[in-house]
Amino acid sequence: MNKKKISNIPFGPYITVLAGAEVDGKPNYATIGAYGVVSQKPVLYISLKNSHYTTKGVIESGYFSVNIPSSDLIEKTDLCGTITGNKTDKSNIFKSFYDENGKAPMIEECPVNYLCKVIQTIPMFDFIMFIGEIVSVYAKEECLDSGKPNALKVDPIIMMDLGYFKLDERIGSVFKACSGNK
Ligand SMILES: Cc1cc2nc3c(=O)[nH]c(=O)nc-3n(C[C@H](O)[C@H](O)[C@H](O)COP(=O)(O)O)c2cc1C
Repeated sequence: MNKKKISNIPFGPYITVLAGAEVDGKPNYATIGAYGVVSQKPVLYISLKNSHYTTKGVIESGYFSVNIPSSDLIEKTDLCGTITGNKTDKSNIFKSFYDENGKAPMIEECPVNYLCKVIQTIPMFDFIMFIGEIVSVYAKEECLDSGKPNALKVDPIIMMDLGYFKLDERIGSVFKACSGNK
């Protein structure tokens, strides 16, 4: 076997998303990679460091948003992960909008937005894992194919190896690639 045992740090890949919350009456966004699904139910998790400004807003409001930036938003996305709302007002980096189902801001520029209601919190070292039921989803019309977001049109930012990457091509269809179908 031509393999070397390496350090136990996870290397990804992770989807880079912006977690949103209303904090002290204003929208705030933190860039995260610790985000994902936990089952086939409409439920998502995000994992936020205790000291983040966004964390305070999620705890206080009981809601968070997950906003999927496309690759052209890389600079603003990186910025939201570089500066903290504890010191700098980030409410004007993006245009925010709201839904009647919950008080978490969502980002107009991002092609897909999930609004989630916190249903469980799990302390994890110096982070909190917030598990949220998806209560509303928005998507830019130009990114949809038959009502569903098309991956290449959404053009998400993938994080790995301390770098940001974009999707290149679709190489298979789920449950069909095993028989050679794209
Ligand atoms: C690419 C990237 C991924 C990140 N992933 C996470 C993460 O999964 N969880 C987390 O708590 N912070 C993560 N961070 C750090 C926060 O985004 C950063 O500390 C931010 O300033 C927090 O903002 P806030 O204090 O306004 O909430 C990440 C930062 C970057 C640039």
